[in-house]
Amino acid sequence: MIAALALAAAAALALPVPVIGANAAPADACTAEAGSFTWGFKESFRAYISGSIANGEWSTEGDIGYDTPAFFSDDLAGSIDLQGVKGELSVDGAMRFTGHEGILDTTISTVRLVVESPEQLVVVVDVRGTTQDFVPIDSAGVRFLTGDLAAAQWSASGDGLLIESIPLTLTADGAEAFGTYPEGETFDPLTLELATTEACATAALEARAAAGQIPLFVAGGLIAVGVGLGALLAVALRRRSRAGQAAPAEPSAEPSAAPSDD
Ligand code: HEM
Repeated sequence: MIAALALAAAAALALPVPVIGANAAPADACTAEAGSFTWGFKESFRAYISGSIANGEWSTEGDIGYDTPAFFSDDLAGSIDLQGVKGELSVDGAMRFTGHEGILDTTISTVRLVVESPEQLVVVVDVRGTTQDFVPIDSAGVRFLTGDLAAAQWSASGDGLLIESIPLTLTADGAEAFGTYPEGETFDPLTLELATTEACATAALEARAAAGQIPLFVAGGLIAVGVGLGALLAVALRRRSRAGQAAPAEPSAEPSAAPSDD
């Protein structure tokens, strides 16, 4: 009965109701242990480095490469549980930016892509260099950027799970380590591809869809609260209007009609 009411309530709100068994998850555990990314890092920073102000360049080390206009790696390794959409892949490599005849020399290395939930990614890196004010920085494991996985485009195919254009913003720790941009600054979106079977990639899509839904019991509860508040409001309004009808008419200070001339 309660379940029926909850389903009816969800239908009334046009909430997506999970269809159990329609696209069953694979029997075996789904784990992605390899992947790749492409990422421009920050387009305005690259333009500044390669432009006439900094007169600089960038280079890559280890398993990170650069192919205009983006850095990439095909060597992400680790473990991401695709049914829970949680885990971490990392790459041993670096992006080094130099400019102002070596005065600017910043290296971002050991990129770790930490999937905290179907909705959030954190880019953790080591940062070495100086801030814009020449304060030396050498920080390992900086939670540099947060990624909005809910706003990215997900798709499943025989090649695996593709998560395109993950919007990234600078954290407070990232702002402190990089030493120029404020917290909340937008970096280039990152595209991540996880090697897995199509069935497991589809399981990840379902986990993501489920994470974006309001659980039925919460929806039912919200409707009950809404109906209760509506009833209380109706009673209060009815009482107010009855009280208004019963009250004696206020004596009017103004004459009700202009005195007649005749
Ligand atoms: C000789 C020393 C330096 C000079 C003369 C200098 C000069 C400048 C100038 C004029 C800009 C504005 C560029 C524009 O608006 O187009 C700029 C931006 C910037 N500088 Fe420097 N800078 C120096 C050192 C550094 C250092 C050590 C860092 C450390 C990372 C740094 C990081 C940046 C960043 C991140 C920007 C913003 C780029 C963007 O538009 O996204 N600078 N700098």
